[in-house]
Amino acid sequence: MFKGAFSHSILKRAQSKGHVVINLHNIRDWSKNKHKNVDDYPYGGGAGMVMMVEPVVNCIEELKAMTSYDEVIYLSPDGELLNQSIANQLSIKQNLLILCGHYKGIDERIRTHFITREISIGDYVLSGGELAAMVLTDAIVRIIPGVLNDETSALSDSFQDNLLSPPVYTRPAEFRGLKVPDILLSGNDKEIAKWKYEQSVERTRERRPGLYRDT
Ligand code: ADE
Repeated sequence: MFKGAFSHSILKRAQSKGHVVINLHNIRDWSKNKHKNVDDYPYGGGAGMVMMVEPVVNCIEELKAMTSYDEVIYLSPDGELLNQSIANQLSIKQNLLILCGHYKGIDERIRTHFITREISIGDYVLSGGELAAMVLTDAIVRIIPGVLNDETSALSDSFQDNLLSPPVYTRPAEFRGLKVPDILLSGNDKEIAKWKYEQSVERTRERRPGLYRDT
């Protein structure tokens, strides 16, 4: 599942250029049971299975014995909501250990004693933390300096100033009577920059008033 996402495009280039090393680990490899189970029924009853403390903690401890981690992150819908500022903070860390939950959740003792940060990618429930981990990894890796060809392009992303990106156009200058705004063809860099900023502000006010108020 991860290999597909991590072996294309920017994430692939980031790894091949040595900007990031991504290691995948399967918790089942730390299971002591012959069926390689890592989940069990919840104490007190209830629907779904719970990831067991022992294999998860053994995995975390083995990895921590080899590498010093800045954060041990657990992906969960009840974590803090991922935003650009969190991605920026994490992108300047050296080593991150990311744990994906599955089933109904993980034994609470893992969360209270071994996890340093819990992150959600949105107010909806996924079947597991894997997709969330890929989203988080992509958001972090693409802004590591040197990963994008044009380093300024990450800085001009939507959200970097709590502003959405302005509209963009490419050739032709006219398509079925639909024209590119004259200002973009004017060659006046100062006026173009001003127009882009105004467009960003207008777009943010219209589409994401909450984001705009936070600036
Ligand atoms: N696991 C399941 N749903 C999730 C979400 N929304 N964010 C992060 N991890 C999750």
